[in-house]
Amino acid sequence: MHNTVYSDENIKSRNGEKPSHSQIHGYSHLVDLRDCYPFVKWAGGKSQILSKLDSMIPSKFSRYFEPFLGGGAMFFHLISDRNMRFTAYLSDINWELITAYKVVKNNVGELIELLKRHEREYNRNPSKYYYKLRDEIKPVTDIDKTARFIALNKTCYNGLYRVNRNGIFNVPMGRYKNPLICDSNNLGNIGNALRYSRAAINVSDYKDALLKAEEDDFIYLDPPYHPTSPTANFTGYSDNGFGNNDQLQLAKLFVELNDRKCKVLLSNSDTPFIRKLYSDFSGFIKEVNVSRVINSKASRRSGHKELLISNYSS
Ligand SMILES: C[S@@+](CC[C@H](N)C(=O)[O-])C[C@H]1O[C@@H](n2cnc3c(N)ncnc32)[C@H](O)[C@@H]1O
Repeated sequence: MHNTVYSDENIKSRNGEKPSHSQIHGYSHLVDLRDCYPFVKWAGGKSQILSKLDSMIPSKFSRYFEPFLGGGAMFFHLISDRNMRFTAYLSDINWELITAYKVVKNNVGELIELLKRHEREYNRNPSKYYYKLRDEIKPVTDIDKTARFIALNKTCYNGLYRVNRNGIFNVPMGRYKNPLICDSNNLGNIGNALRYSRAAINVSDYKDALLKAEEDDFIYLDPPYHPTSPTANFTGYSDNGFGNNDQLQLAKLFVELNDRKCKVLLSNSDTPFIRKLYSDFSGFIKEVNVSRVINSKASRRSGHKELLISNYSS
């Protein structure tokens, strides 16, 4: 059975005044955080392998770190499906994405109004509005920027995020019949989840984000994939990608986190290079089948294997 929803307003009216930080957390067990799922489509999103990841969640941990946050499928799974409560450190190098998480956390009502407006305009003339929003409209506030970011994410080609050398988003329009630009329920639920789950949300390189990780913290690492073939090397996450040297640095940090007695779970594509990098943990490697959604060739959307690598038994 799920718990009852008590919003900020409920808490306020019960006490007659604005609740303190600790009071809000005192009520966090009363907040219904079910039905939260990623509010953006994201390359490498983990929604389809959640059941496999679920079986590898440590039974006990202290704090949660997700430094390659993307759409945050794992975080939402932990707090929503698993109904777990913990202090979370969520971060990603993509500032537009992280700004969106902050706006959903702090200004979800205004965001929903703006998204409804984008949805109405888009439905009047999808292609005209898509390119106007992408190329002409210059949002000023973080709320405007986030509304544009989400509207483009829901209507662009395969939810891809790609910017040119000047940092300008340049993905063409996708082919959707009725894209749900404003998913008010999910956004409202996520706003609650982020407020009540003690989530610290930051733009950060993963190395900096993990400096404070300690014994018994649970860290989920989902870096950009190592390419499975020389032609599949487009990561689409940022203009400079995540190359072999980055994968190597990450593997070194994995060992360091293991030495610090953190519980670390990492996902990556199944390539000889990745298997070699994590060969010291070969007893804790699981293979899972995945279908890559973001690929222009339908024939290449299935049949990929991914590795789940941890430093603990599950
Ligand atoms: C595979 S995606 C994560 C997908 C996510 N698990 C989900 O469910 O949607 C990898 C993420 O790493 C981020 N990223 C790339 N390089 C990074 C870095 N050096 N530090 C932190 N994040 C980085 C990208 O912006 C992208 O969001």
